Amino acid sequence: MLLSPTFFWNKMARGYAKSPVGNPAAYQVKLDKTAEYLRPTDHVLEFGCGTGTTALIHAPRVAKMDAIDFSKEMIAIAREKLWDQSAPNVSFEVSSFEDWPVPVEGQGYDAILGMSILHLIKDAESTLDKVHKSLKPGGVFVSSTVCLGDGKGLGRYFLPVLGAIGVLPRIRFLKATALQKMIKDHGFEIEHHWQPDGTPTLFAIARRVD
Ligand SMILES: C[S@@+](CC[C@H](N)C(=O)[O-])C[C@H]1O[C@@H](n2cnc3c(N)ncnc32)[C@H](O)[C@@H]1O
Repeated sequence: MLLSPTFFWNKMARGYAKSPVGNPAAYQVKLDKTAEYLRPTDHVLEFGCGTGTTALIHAPRVAKMDAIDFSKEMIAIAREKLWDQSAPNVSFEVSSFEDWPVPVEGQGYDAILGMSILHLIKDAESTLDKVHKSLKPGGVFVSSTVCLGDGKGLGRYFLPVLGAIGVLPRIRFLKATALQKMIKDHGFEIEHHWQPDGTPTLFAIARRVD
């Protein structure tokens, strides 16, 4: 890759923060479903948190919310939101998920959120392994993933080229059924899954099983 993986997201951050949520109804359904799985004692991690909107919405429901993103510009905006909204249990940190430490035994997260990110990570399999290790036994992984592998658009030809040079992020062309299998194969039981009508997105809530 000619440009750093964070180049695109740092450049995009201010515009991303201003752009409205693509499908507000589907976003709300995902928030509500996620909330059903969160408890006031939970320690939660969100990776690839972007400008922190989702983390800040869920924060009042949990004990502690660690939200990370490898784009320093995204995290700068997330931290600006903390000036307007009191959320003492939220920390926003610049880090890739790959560099974020796995909690020591017995101190794993109760829930991990990975929203609109698994398709952007080259090695989603290693990510799922790390999510599994980072959760407490019985903890939940909430994900929403764009599954372009199910479509027949021309994007499959030019997106990889733009991704290879770093003008766009690399996008993996996952298929929803293959992703569900991948999640299960990495030690999870999928308790809920949903594909909003007319979108290539798989929303899944999976529980760590041992
Ligand atoms: C499509 S945006 C999604 C942001 C947010 N989760 C949302 O749903 O609006 C993807 C985000 O993931 C971040 N990202 C991509 N790869 C990452 C990685 N390996 N570790 C941490 N953050 C990453 C990008 O910087 C970007 O902010």
